[in-house]
Amino acid sequence: MMPKFLKFSLIALLVAGCSASTKKQETDFVSNGIKIAEQQIEYQITKIDKTGKILNPRTLINNNIQYVSFADWTSGFFPGSLWYLYDLTKDEKWKVEAERFTMHIDSAKYLKSTHDVGFIINCSFGNGYRLTNNPDYKATMIRAAKSLITRFRPKTGTIQSWNVNSGWQSERGWMCPVIADNMMNLELLFEATKLSGDSSFWKIAVSHADKTLENHFRQDFSCYHVVDYDTITGEVRNKITAQGYSNESSWARGQAWALYGFTVCYRETQNPKYLDIAEKIAHFIITNKNMPADMVPYWDFDAPNIPNEPRDASAAAINASALYELSTYGQPELAKTADKIMTALSGPAYLATPGTNHNFVLMHSVGSIPHNNEIDVPLNYADYYFLEALARKKALLK
Ligand code: GLY
Repeated sequence: MMPKFLKFSLIALLVAGCSASTKKQETDFVSNGIKIAEQQIEYQITKIDKTGKILNPRTLINNNIQYVSFADWTSGFFPGSLWYLYDLTKDEKWKVEAERFTMHIDSAKYLKSTHDVGFIINCSFGNGYRLTNNPDYKATMIRAAKSLITRFRPKTGTIQSWNVNSGWQSERGWMCPVIADNMMNLELLFEATKLSGDSSFWKIAVSHADKTLENHFRQDFSCYHVVDYDTITGEVRNKITAQGYSNESSWARGQAWALYGFTVCYRETQNPKYLDIAEKIAHFIITNKNMPADMVPYWDFDAPNIPNEPRDASAAAINASALYELSTYGQPELAKTADKIMTALSGPAYLATPGTNHNFVLMHSVGSIPHNNEIDVPLNYADYYFLEALARKKALLK
């Protein structure tokens, strides 16, 4: 019979071996993800430079790269990905590229026609300021926050997401549509208060978050995509969808935006009600009966033909990044779920082979199926949140 001390030593060795191999897998997906992203984005920039212009890649249309202007809601993500490459590698060449592509969208700070100015400026200039303390970036962030709060409607207590006087939004009969995605624009306002000392940005962010908490959620803590408010009475007129399968369904990226947005609200305010809702959203997402084993969701949790529906890698990447942060607020096991998502996204099913996928990093995202737009394509925000999640994982490993 094996002596007791030997048995214990063997078990201890086995446990240590398993945990070392899990740890190794984790570090592997970080280093491999960085390596592939560097290769893909380097090719992407070479291709752009050949045109003699500065171009901003968003996605593919008919298998051609769609480049966007500073006013497009996704214009901050490519510069933001460059900042994350600099953050992850500390290679000065990425800083130079990040500065170049960031300055190219500087005019976005004046945008008052959309709530997306928060996304655009915080992902580009916000990361730039975090990594360099460049005072010009700080000034741009404050200027952009001033533009964003022109969309605050005191009667509803919310920032209006979309204008309703043109485009497809004008055909829906809305007065003041507020979308779950708008939670993502609040981070710029919290930052602007810290940078300027002016608390009005912070107060508007909190008012918007409180109203979203009050009106966007169902009993199971899934959220509606759009809540339309009456700007005269301040009342809710309707709860509907724009990018989901139906008004009562749960659009996957909308849930991800809400998860991420309320996690940021908790970070910035320490108000436990935001932590509570973030954890409940996480629970809804993670335990959903239609969540596939690899944790990369279908584009809508209630899409009618699951499992024959497109997956949305962008929602998965946003979830992973948010869960890494949320895990640090008292639920460390959420980081394991984020690892699972990142392991899937880092595998051959989602991570592009260098030189393919038109040099985007991730494959298989969905923009908007109801608009028949961007179905099963790469998206620059999937790449951005994938890189952010890698940076957060790297920080947690330390
Ligand atoms: N409106 C941002 C999105 O499509 O997720």
